[in-house]
Amino acid sequence: MATPHIGAEPGDFAPDVLMPGDPRRARRIAEMVLDDARLVTEVRGILGFTGTFEGRPVSVLASGMGMPSITIYATELFRFYGVQRIIRIGTAGGMATHLDLGDVVIASAAHTDSAMTAQRIPGIHYSHAPSFALLSAAAAAAGFRPGVRPDGVHVGAVVSNDAFYVDRKTTNDLLVQYGTLAVEMEAAALYAAADAEGREALAICTISDLLFRDAALSADEREELFDRSVRLGLAAFATA
Ligand code: HPA
Repeated sequence: MATPHIGAEPGDFAPDVLMPGDPRRARRIAEMVLDDARLVTEVRGILGFTGTFEGRPVSVLASGMGMPSITIYATELFRFYGVQRIIRIGTAGGMATHLDLGDVVIASAAHTDSAMTAQRIPGIHYSHAPSFALLSAAAAAAGFRPGVRPDGVHVGAVVSNDAFYVDRKTTNDLLVQYGTLAVEMEAAALYAAADAEGREALAICTISDLLFRDAALSADEREELFDRSVRLGLAAFATA
């Protein structure tokens, strides 16, 4: 039976799902890296595909933008389709000045200004954290070892904001002062949805723009660098 937002049948999704924001990127991931990919849902143009990667079943479903959207898709995947693990493959704006365009941020925590998790456990300032197994597997796949930090890949906190077009210099300065690496709009809600359903999640973000310098990736660069995050996500699924 389909859910309100996903038109697939039970069993159509693999236990492991990669989740980009953009439906066209979901199609591209399916075409480029999955074998025997088939379309399993296209409700509202949110495309989902299931295939295999190196013999393991993997699905890809777009999340749309923002925390309400990713919460709907993640919750329905976990609750109604037996999905066990979701890795968001997204973009983020670099906040910390040691980041560069095309760098990858593996989000070991997600602050948020969203009221969504505040409503889950009243009175609690929730800690939005990923699956340790997925986090450590992704970090290992990226080349982190004791005393070794790979070039261009960072593990640390992001902030998941409700608004894209908002100018909050003081807030951003404080977040950076407290070690926050990048801003995006989904990770915190994904982590809370996974916790709520007793499942696992991680967000791996490519830095597509910088808040402290006028710079952005070209479309081609975005796609090429995006592939690196996809490979890290697939490696995490295979080794976690
Ligand atoms: N802000 C919020 N989300 C984003 C950004 C940003 O600058 N870049 C990519 N996703």
